[in-house]
Amino acid sequence: MTEGEMRRDHYKLFSEGQIGPLTLPNRLVRSATWDPSILGPRRMSEDVLAVYRRVAEGGSGLIITGDVSVVPPGLLDQDEPVIPPDLYEQVRIEGYDRLVETVCRAAPGARMVAQISADYPGVAPSDIPSPWSHERPRPLTTAQVRAIVLCLAEVIAARQAEGFDGVQFHAAHGGLLSRFLSPYSNRRQDEYGGTTRNRAHIIREAVDRARQRVGDFPILIKMNGTDYVEGGIDLDNLPELAREIQRADVDAVEISGGMWECLLQSKQTLGFRPVPAPESHTLRRAAGPRYPDPPRRRQPGRGAAGGHLGRGQGGFHLAVPAPDP
Ligand SMILES: Cc1cc2nc3c(=O)[nH]c(=O)nc-3n(C[C@H](O)[C@H](O)[C@H](O)COP(=O)(O)O)c2cc1C
Repeated sequence: MTEGEMRRDHYKLFSEGQIGPLTLPNRLVRSATWDPSILGPRRMSEDVLAVYRRVAEGGSGLIITGDVSVVPPGLLDQDEPVIPPDLYEQVRIEGYDRLVETVCRAAPGARMVAQISADYPGVAPSDIPSPWSHERPRPLTTAQVRAIVLCLAEVIAARQAEGFDGVQFHAAHGGLLSRFLSPYSNRRQDEYGGTTRNRAHIIREAVDRARQRVGDFPILIKMNGTDYVEGGIDLDNLPELAREIQRADVDAVEISGGMWECLLQSKQTLGFRPVPAPESHTLRRAAGPRYPDPPRRRQPGRGAAGGHLGRGQGGFHLAVPAPDP
């Protein structure tokens, strides 16, 4: 067969795929990208809907939404949090279900998975100071971790009711769930730390709880294959962690890499130039604590590792090789 005779149906990429009970029209997956403009006002916008419409028209078989935290403001300010009866109302984004409707209209076969995180300012599994922001997070109490599990399960059930085809935990890139999985950031001694199995316990528990409500609704996870941080997830300890994640009964794993800490490493150490998300400077203004200011000792416009941190750099996410300028 010559190159000219190749057709779409000759490529496995364009053949149907399967994630648990979910059939995908092809194997093109649009990875999550954060939509900060809807998080502040907690309302869906026409601009964001237009982006998803275009992605669906572009032919992605599976579209994963930007990450939305399931933890309501104020909840983790108490050591023994009480889950409010209107929990979902407190984290709800008005009109979020319009994403499903929009994608379905633009490309009826495309599947829509909602990404969820448990990010919350100033807290972490352990009080390891961030070399990036210089802040020392408050370690979560066991009761607070249990409250996060309940929030995750509640929002998974809500996403099912809204018509999504599945959910994905955002447990990569140094967000709260990622910090539970990583031996670098999780030094806990309770049931949520200390061993690989315990570090994955928050995920296992959230899936267990959610399954009681949502049955075989697809639950995916995005996690780091390597944190690119000394003492973190790496290719040696990944297999053991992956086995624990598999035990948690998730339907699919998306592997990514890197944490904010990577920005302080050199290109030589990482093997590629460290870059933040290209919009991070804009996003920091829009979103506040999610994108912390760089450490003071850095020269303006340059990463400590010598990488440029200016806008328009064209990089992707943390610890992802930036395309050559
Ligand atoms: C603007 C922007 C926003 C992003 N938002 C998210 C997000 O909300 N959740 C997430 O898991 N990844 C997010 N990412 C990361 C990408 O989904 C993806 O992981 C990254 O481009 C690296 O690809 P890789 O994971 O295949 O290495 C974002 C990336 C960019 C550039």
